[in-house]
Amino acid sequence: MNRALSERRFILIGPPGAGKTTVGRYLARELGLTLIDTDQAIEEESNRTISEIFTEEGETYFRELEKRIVKRELRSAGAVIALGGGAVMDPEIEDLLQNEKDVIYLAVSIANAAPRVGFNRERPLLLGNPRQQWLSLMKERKAIYDRLAKITVSTDNRKPAEVVEEIKEMIL
Ligand code: S3P
Repeated sequence: MNRALSERRFILIGPPGAGKTTVGRYLARELGLTLIDTDQAIEEESNRTISEIFTEEGETYFRELEKRIVKRELRSAGAVIALGGGAVMDPEIEDLLQNEKDVIYLAVSIANAAPRVGFNRERPLLLGNPRQQWLSLMKERKAIYDRLAKITVSTDNRKPAEVVEEIKEMIL
């Protein structure tokens, strides 16, 4: 029998534009769980946007804050947890995720990620040439996303509801 949903946490990983927040919201609603979006938690707790934190304090500061908040949120149960795209690059977070049972990698192509990222809120790491920056982030991260994933689901050319249906078939 499946473990009770209230004891599980479903962790969404993947690059910017994969749809972690949107799919996370749907998935949480479908399963009757809480959505925790770590980027949002960072913004709320610091009273600043991610862009402001990057500009005013720099990336190292942001990554420390992200590590603290992600480590804390990874103790939650009965939740869907959407992680910022770069959180997996921290070795401590990577270690924690390796021991998690429900890590879901939302895979996406550059063609599908580009419009989502382009029209979404600002992403400081993609400033300049977003396409090129995204590709270079993926080059660095893809192996880690692949390694940590217990389940991989493509969000290319699909509505969040379809992605969530596929996830539900695999996790329930
Ligand atoms: C980042 C992704 C962002 C946010 C920050 C850094 C990254 O989250 O955490 O801008 O390193 O890929 P999304 O993946 O939700 O865009």
